[in-house]
Amino acid sequence: MLSHARCTDRDMRRHPRRPAESRAGPNAAWTAVCLSVAGLLGCERRPLSDGLPDTMDCSSCHGSDKNTAPPKSVDGSVAVSNVGVGAHQAHLIAGKAARPLVCGECHIVPLSMTTHPDPNGGPAKVAFAGRATLLGAEPVWDRATRRCSDTYCHGATLSGAESRDPPEWTTVNGTYLDCGACHGNPPGGTHPQQTDCEVCHIDVGPGGVIKDLQLHINGVIESGHPDGYESGTVHGPDAKQGKSDCRTCHGAGLEGVDDKPSCDSCHPAGWRTNCTFCHGGTDSTNGAPPVDLLGNSETSFLGVGAHTEHLSRTTHPAYPCTTCHIGITDVLTPGHMFDSTPGRSEVILSGLSPQGQYTAPICNNIYCHGNGRANGAVASFIPAAPFTCNSCHPTGGLGGHHGSHNGFSCIICHSAVAEDKETIANPDLHVDGKKDVSLNLGSYDPTAKTCSGTGTGCHEGTSNPW
Ligand code: HEC
Ligand code: HEC
Ligand code: HEC
Ligand code: HEC
Ligand code: HEC
Ligand code: HEC
Ligand code: HEC
Ligand code: HEC
Ligand code: HEC
Ligand code: HEC
Repeated sequence: MLSHARCTDRDMRRHPRRPAESRAGPNAAWTAVCLSVAGLLGCERRPLSDGLPDTMDCSSCHGSDKNTAPPKSVDGSVAVSNVGVGAHQAHLIAGKAARPLVCGECHIVPLSMTTHPDPNGGPAKVAFAGRATLLGAEPVWDRATRRCSDTYCHGATLSGAESRDPPEWTTVNGTYLDCGACHGNPPGGTHPQQTDCEVCHIDVGPGGVIKDLQLHINGVIESGHPDGYESGTVHGPDAKQGKSDCRTCHGAGLEGVDDKPSCDSCHPAGWRTNCTFCHGGTDSTNGAPPVDLLGNSETSFLGVGAHTEHLSRTTHPAYPCTTCHIGITDVLTPGHMFDSTPGRSEVILSGLSPQGQYTAPICNNIYCHGNGRANGAVASFIPAAPFTCNSCHPTGGLGGHHGSHNGFSCIICHSAVAEDKETIANPDLHVDGKKDVSLNLGSYDPTAKTCSGTGTGCHEGTSNPW
């Protein structure tokens, strides 16, 4: 084994690799090599060919017992600021972002010691191959700036590359392991602006952990789903909560693209227009919750709320979905499930209250819950208590000459609508946007707001303004 003490000119003159004709005088280069070898005693050894001593191996001149790459560099340095050391170990040991590289991806690995080290000396040669050159990337090592530009690995082929500085070989502090160092996190442009990468990229787990290093920085943009995704109970909730826009990969019409199957390939025929395939189906077949998108049935959930009440002909007509939502006829109807608010339904009031505004859970400035004379009413989709006959138009708040007719039952003048003060006779005429006056006796002119022919006991013979 060599030792420091033996790195003398005398020893160097006898060095087996030293050409015989130059063995006469001192040689600084050979002494330096010897010194670096001497500093690396105890490394794992394997014999080198070409007449070098058994005690020497690739780690003798550079590298350590971990691997043959610096540190140490050939001049003995271990500092990452030394260009010979740099980010070697960051590339050669599996980290959080990439599988380990091999020397051959950045150098031509010497096969024989007859030409190695380079008899002409000089810095190490960097020759990229494999990963760094994937997809036509043409990387360049610039020793002056110590930067590698245009490498595939650091995102040369990915969107936004022009705005990222090429990585600096001697900056080894985690900067280039950041998930946003080589590509946006998430990428910008048309890429979905979601941070839960795992929904669409199979090699990443929750929290941005690369769970399969073999699939990251491998030249393929992996997409796809976790195991078991073929089950409706796994991908169904993702689709209903809009975890991803399935159309991005499965095609604009969900018809399937390449290895991404058509949604029609497994679902029963007609599923796209079957409104209870994804929501509703408990109280009705029209698609209205319950159940809501999360599977809830209780009316205390916003997604369920007062749907059944509004959609049933009770004390009012059964209102269509379009009273509160856009018209939907199919899964792909614009504004339905693939819209800018994934998993969240839009309430756009029309019908009797086109001026109304919805701010969950409240409908503001509406007609329906008012007194029949003006808009401006407010009502919650999850009311604290059921509405009574006095909730919307309290007896004391009725207009015109109601007050002076207080002793009379409503049916005297609203016989087509009411059966008595508490019962609606014909729901189709109540809260339908029209004041329905149907006198038991006589007739009412809604334009002039007068009644006539009301008979004895009322306003006999006269035409009285309301
Ligand atoms: C990610 C690319 C990369 C990988 C992988 C890599 N190297 Fe290097 N290597 C470099 C760069 C860059 C330099 C500096 C070149 C220069 O000085 O111009 C270098 C320099 C060297 C040097 C010269 C050190 C000095 O002191 O000047 C040695 C020796 C070396 N590498 C060995 C290895 C070995 C052995 C492996 C595999 C175990 C390896 N390298 C893997 C990029 C790499
Ligand atoms: C006698 C000392 C010595 C031994 C032994 C040695 N190297 Fe080197 N190696 C160097 C020097 C010096 C350099 C710097 C570039 C040059 O001078 O060729 C280097 C550079 C390298 C490089 C960078 C690429 C290049 O060629 O410039 C690689 C890779 C490398 N060595 C691998 C190995 C491997 C693998 C072994 C074992 C088979 C080995 N070295 C054994 C001295 C040595
Ligand atoms: C909703 C689905 C979805 C989510 C979530 C998602 N991606 Fe993507 N991503 C895609 C699609 C689709 C592509 C394009 C695939 C293709 O080109 O084959 C893509 C492409 C990429 C690309 C290569 C495109 C480029 O040019 O930059 C990177 C890098 C990427 N995603 C990273 C991320 C990261 C990081 C996250 C999480 C922070 C993430 N993605 C979250 C769907 C998604
Ligand atoms: C050293 C550069 C680099 C770093 C650091 C990096 N990535 Fe990537 N990433 C890439 C490249 C290059 C791609 C292009 C696709 C490929 O080759 O796998 C990619 C692709 C992706 C994709 C798309 C799916 C895929 O792998 O094909 C996701 C998701 C992603 N990276 C997430 C992350 C996360 C999370 C981190 C942080 C832990 C991270 N990346 C750190 C270079 C990097
Ligand atoms: C590999 C077969 C398969 C593919 C492909 C598939 N599904 Fe499904 N999906 C199912 C099965 C099975 C069910 C459960 C069906 C049932 O209960 O009738 C289901 C159920 C669903 C449900 C939940 C319905 C509910 O509330 O129970 C949704 C939402 C859904 N799929 C969306 C999609 C979308 C969107 C696509 C295309 C991007 C798709 N599926 C592709 C097999 C598949
Ligand atoms: C980033 C691209 C991407 C997005 C977004 C995407 N898928 Fe896929 N999907 C794939 C790929 C790739 C496959 C085939 C490989 C696989 O099964 O992972 C696939 C397969 C499937 C399968 C069949 C799984 C099996 O094992 O047979 C179902 C079901 C599915 N996707 C449903 C959905 C649903 C629902 C959505 C929207 C919520 C969606 N996908 C969004 C890429 C995507
Ligand atoms: C009186 C107004 C009204 C009518 C009529 C109405 N909805 Fe809704 N709908 C709402 C409100 C309010 C929400 C809750 C919105 C929110 O999340 O803030 C909602 C939410 C939904 C949701 C999403 C549930 C969830 O889990 O988030 C679906 C699906 C839905 N409605 C379907 C229908 C269908 C189908 C009809 C017709 C058959 C209908 N709605 C009629 C007011 C109405
Ligand atoms: C494949 C699942 C699926 C099917 C089938 C489906 N819907 Fe939906 N529906 C959703 C999802 C998811 C939402 C939540 C919408 C969002 O993200 O904006 C929704 C929301 C709604 C809403 C609330 C308003 C809105 O735009 O968000 C109405 C109304 C509605 N659906 C009606 C229907 C009708 C009518 C049908 C039958 C023609 C139907 N849906 C079929 C998944 C489905
Ligand atoms: C949700 C609010 C609301 C509730 C609750 C309500 N009404 Fe009405 N009612 C109205 C509105 C609004 C009108 C205005 C006329 C219209 O649009 O039909 C009205 C009108 C009437 C009229 C006049 C005839 C007509 O329809 O024009 C009678 C009578 C009436 N309501 C009786 C009742 C009775 C009885 C009850 C209890 C069973 C009741 N209302 C509960 C909102 C309500
Ligand atoms: C004596 C006849 C009469 C009786 C009794 C009567 N109404 Fe009316 N009501 C009218 C007339 C007439 C109108 C139409 C006013 C118009 O055209 O503007 C009306 C309108 C209404 C409206 C619409 C809003 C408004 O104030 O104009 C409501 C609500 C209403 N009545 C509720 C009731 C209820 C509830 C009862 C029983 C408690 C009742 N009415 C009893 C004659 C009567």
